[in-house]
Amino acid sequence: MLSCTANAQEFALSFVTELLLESVFLSVDPYMRPYSQRNMKEGDIMIGTQVARIVESKNPDFTVGVFVVARSGWRTHFISDGKDLRALPPNWPESLPRSLALGTIGMPGLTAYFGLLEVCKMKSGETVLVNAAAGAVGSVVGQLAKIWGCKVVGCAGSDDKVAYLKKIGFDEAFNYKTVASLDEALRKASPDGYDCFFDNVGGEFTTVAINQMKTYGRIALCGAISQYNDSVPQKGPYVQMPMIFKELQMEGFIVSRWNNRWEEGLNTMLKWVMEVRKEGVGFCKVPFCFCLCKGSLVIAVEVKPQHDTFLPPDLIFESFGDSQTIVNIPDPFCFVETCNIRL
Ligand SMILES: NC(=O)c1ccc[n+]([C@@H]2O[C@H](COP(=O)([O-])OP(=O)(O)OC[C@H]3O[C@@H](n4cnc5c(N)ncnc54)[C@H](OP(=O)(O)O)[C@@H]3O)[C@@H](O)[C@H]2O)c1
Repeated sequence: MLSCTANAQEFALSFVTELLLESVFLSVDPYMRPYSQRNMKEGDIMIGTQVARIVESKNPDFTVGVFVVARSGWRTHFISDGKDLRALPPNWPESLPRSLALGTIGMPGLTAYFGLLEVCKMKSGETVLVNAAAGAVGSVVGQLAKIWGCKVVGCAGSDDKVAYLKKIGFDEAFNYKTVASLDEALRKASPDGYDCFFDNVGGEFTTVAINQMKTYGRIALCGAISQYNDSVPQKGPYVQMPMIFKELQMEGFIVSRWNNRWEEGLNTMLKWVMEVRKEGVGFCKVPFCFCLCKGSLVIAVEVKPQHDTFLPPDLIFESFGDSQTIVNIPDPFCFVETCNIRL
């Protein structure tokens, strides 16, 4: 459920450290599927992250008008004591859409950054495989790996997404839904196999891809989106044999492990986005942002232009999901996909 408050005046700040915030962008991320299924009951306010603007402040550390990232769920307004807020990097350019703080210069971007650096331990010259490659995480994985001098193979679930992957610099890309054999497609894309596998999908894809890893290959288990909706757990084949005989490393991770390096990650991603923007190549994905609802039913999906007045005039939205057509989404299981902002 999205908690709408028609009027910010309904809130009264009582304590000296309190702030009143107004959500500007809400994110829609895959983790909401398993988390909401496990931890939420009907009528609960949907979990989620937002970019919010401070509209009132009794806290000397936060000035009115400043934008922050919060994890207060789908609420139009909320009160905070400031402890759970992350300010946008102070050098955030006026011309850069703030919604990127929920995408490339936010949690999904840092997932790609730390997953590649710290879990895959990617080195220049290696071959990197990523699935759900056109997604918020996968598209950054591919672009960062290219910047680091790797060969990048990605796959996605539509021909449009595959064309997009090629446009943003993937060396090889294919549509995993239409290839005759996933095994053959992976072999064709990199006959020598893969050093790193950034796995966003899990399930059958992982089982097939593991057999294409090079000896001592590293697998970063980032997500298992193919399993999030399962009511019955999927069964093997199991991974032990290729893991042993190819001496592979497989490590699951959650990006919050690097909370103490968040600033470093954000600054790196911000610098990268600005460089990409200057050169006029590359894309950044932002979570689809929406704001309207009535009761517990989302009735419209839109970007809030009045709060994002700094969007470049040539902004192009590319939707690869159903997000722009979905209406009447049963609450709270509202799974819309992300859209792209081309910088
Ligand atoms: N470990 C962490 O800290 C962390 C942090 C952020 C995200 N993640 C995980 O990373 C993954 C990607 O996240 P994201 O933010 O990039 O997501 P996203 O932008 O919403 O993209 C998700 C993509 O996954 C693919 N997908 C959806 N359902 C699928 C299914 N049943 N089987 C196979 N593919 C499916 C779809 O692409 P196609 O059409 O190409 O199939 C979809 O567009 C998710 O698994 C997420 O949970 C993990």
